[in-house]
Amino acid sequence: MIDTFLSSKLEIIEGLTQSASTISPKYFYDTKGSALFERITHLAEYYPTRIEQEIMATHAAAIAANIGTGCTLIELGAGNCQKARVLCELIAPARFVAVDISEEFLHEAVNALRSALPAIDIRAVAADLNTQIALPADLPLQQRLVFYPGSSIGNFDPAQAQALLKRTRGLLGMDGALLMGVDLHKDLAVLDAAYNDAVGVTAAFNLNVLNHVNRLIGSDFDLRQWQHLAFFNETESRIEMHLVAATDTLVRWSGGQRSFTRGERIHTENSYKYRVEDFLALLARSGFSRTQVWSDERSWFAVILARP
Ligand code: AVJ
Repeated sequence: MIDTFLSSKLEIIEGLTQSASTISPKYFYDTKGSALFERITHLAEYYPTRIEQEIMATHAAAIAANIGTGCTLIELGAGNCQKARVLCELIAPARFVAVDISEEFLHEAVNALRSALPAIDIRAVAADLNTQIALPADLPLQQRLVFYPGSSIGNFDPAQAQALLKRTRGLLGMDGALLMGVDLHKDLAVLDAAYNDAVGVTAAFNLNVLNHVNRLIGSDFDLRQWQHLAFFNETESRIEMHLVAATDTLVRWSGGQRSFTRGERIHTENSYKYRVEDFLALLARSGFSRTQVWSDERSWFAVILARP
């Protein structure tokens, strides 16, 4: 944990001091950030969570029939484990491994799940999806199902996404499968509203990353000096989130500093929106050639089951 703490620190400082400043979206998820994200998923404008749930509910029988029972379920980015709970009721896995970067939040969620589903062997693994995930050594290789819902894959650019999908393929035997949610390209106004909600929860979520960074590197970001910005970049087919300096401002931490001029941005997130055929091609390049796709009436979101 000391090592990951140190490498986060170095990674954050490197991102901040680049000419185009960045903070990785994985730093959104401190305890407060995870709770804010949970609030986002309940917003009227934020359609992905709701539509994904609808698709899973509508096609529950087909999904369950395709997966069967008794598998080893591994969820990437398990968060509050709410989606896993629903899936566990559907497919009755033998064991469940919850993987998430937010360790504290994860342990609470896993404890709650253990009391709700006592028949399932439940484990928690704290990990950064940018690296190879170390699963518990006693986990059987047969019948693994990796669950990666919520279109979290959208945070990675296509090359990184391919690398992550290849690593995921590496966790599976030939009888394994990947069940994931992918947000799709759609009307600009819908995308825009989803990341610029009226109540300002997304803005609070974006700004909160600075609190987390302050704690991680001992910096003195003043949140009142920063504003939320989110827009759809059509060329890259992604939502971009940034924090914009409202005034000229100097940020210091022990051993370094960075000055920002008014209007300068810190890029905090990309959320890629795919066309189904492009995502299937990406899966094929990553070692998943057998796929099934379920979607909603408006094709806003896709749930994909992919096998090696
Ligand atoms: C968790 C990455 C899927 O990209 O929609 C929500 C994060 N950011 N609102 C997304 C997020 C702003 C979310 N993912």
